[in-house]
Amino acid sequence: MQSLQEQIKAYEQDINSFTPADAKELEDYRIKYLGTKGIVKQIFGEMKNVPVEQKKEAGQVLNAFKQLAEAKYEEFKHLQNGALEKGPAVDITMPGTQLPLGTRHPLRMVENQIVSIFEKIGFSVATGPEIEDDWHNFTSLNMPEHHPARDMQDTFYVSQNPDWVLRTHTSSVQARIMEQGKLPVRVLCPGRVYRNETISARAHCFFHQCEGLYIDKGVSFADLKQALYYFVTEMFGPDTKVRFRPSYFPFTEPSAEMDISCTVCGGSGCNLCKHTGWVEILGCGMVHPNMLRNFGIDPEVYTGYAFGMGIERITQIKYQVNDLRLYSQNDVRFLKQFQSI
Ligand code: PHE
Repeated sequence: MQSLQEQIKAYEQDINSFTPADAKELEDYRIKYLGTKGIVKQIFGEMKNVPVEQKKEAGQVLNAFKQLAEAKYEEFKHLQNGALEKGPAVDITMPGTQLPLGTRHPLRMVENQIVSIFEKIGFSVATGPEIEDDWHNFTSLNMPEHHPARDMQDTFYVSQNPDWVLRTHTSSVQARIMEQGKLPVRVLCPGRVYRNETISARAHCFFHQCEGLYIDKGVSFADLKQALYYFVTEMFGPDTKVRFRPSYFPFTEPSAEMDISCTVCGGSGCNLCKHTGWVEILGCGMVHPNMLRNFGIDPEVYTGYAFGMGIERITQIKYQVNDLRLYSQNDVRFLKQFQSI
């Protein structure tokens, strides 16, 4: 009995390590183990020599061995034409399963367009944290504590630390760039910003901005106008007209808002432009001397301009999206429409 068991062990090892390379090897295996004169038969023949009291135990061992030998054969049996692989035969001529491909988000596409337009006139991209401290989001931007302009932006505060806010604009990134003290600077700051607004078709608690900052010796308002004019003609077409209206931002002086001629009606009046022929697209101005001083930059030597636009707004004007909520609902029917832009 002992030697029979050892013999079986050796055969088991042989079976376990067996992988046929082709149909012939599998057939050889079948004849060797499962054929009429095969090893399984032969070993079962040994049963007659096993003492009666061991017959039950030996029977179990032999049956297990037979099952193992058969299972190995079954594993490869269905493989024909030399295509020996594990698992069921595969029809390699069948078309594959189509995996749906996602698309870029429209806001990201428009952000990329804005960035590539400004890159052509020397702007590089800078990013910063979405949780900001008071200094970078407000105070350094000429909005000290209790300054009424803070109310222009409904702020989310971080409850653990009264000094922290969710940034209300990406001007905070401009502050961080100025802080580095390397001049001249010409940066674009795209990113997500947060304001405590009730969600509706026209307002959301978060949106995206792209702000720009250029500081050097001799930068003038004319440079600002020219850069922005270049931007809108690239973005909305060469016939786009612009106009500037005086405005107020604490961090710029003078400040302006820029309108473009309506992209839908061309100026004759429609719903997008509320029948005025103009749509507002951004705020801008010359960097306030106080802000330059906050970062140790001498306003007598350096001047700069800044501008900031909402990416949702640009997308809305360019592609006539009339409900801000669509951007964050992740409805593929909406997202897919931007596939080819
Ligand atoms: N930070 C302003 C806003 O969020 C936009 C702006 C940027 C205006 C730079 C002027 C200059 O509304």
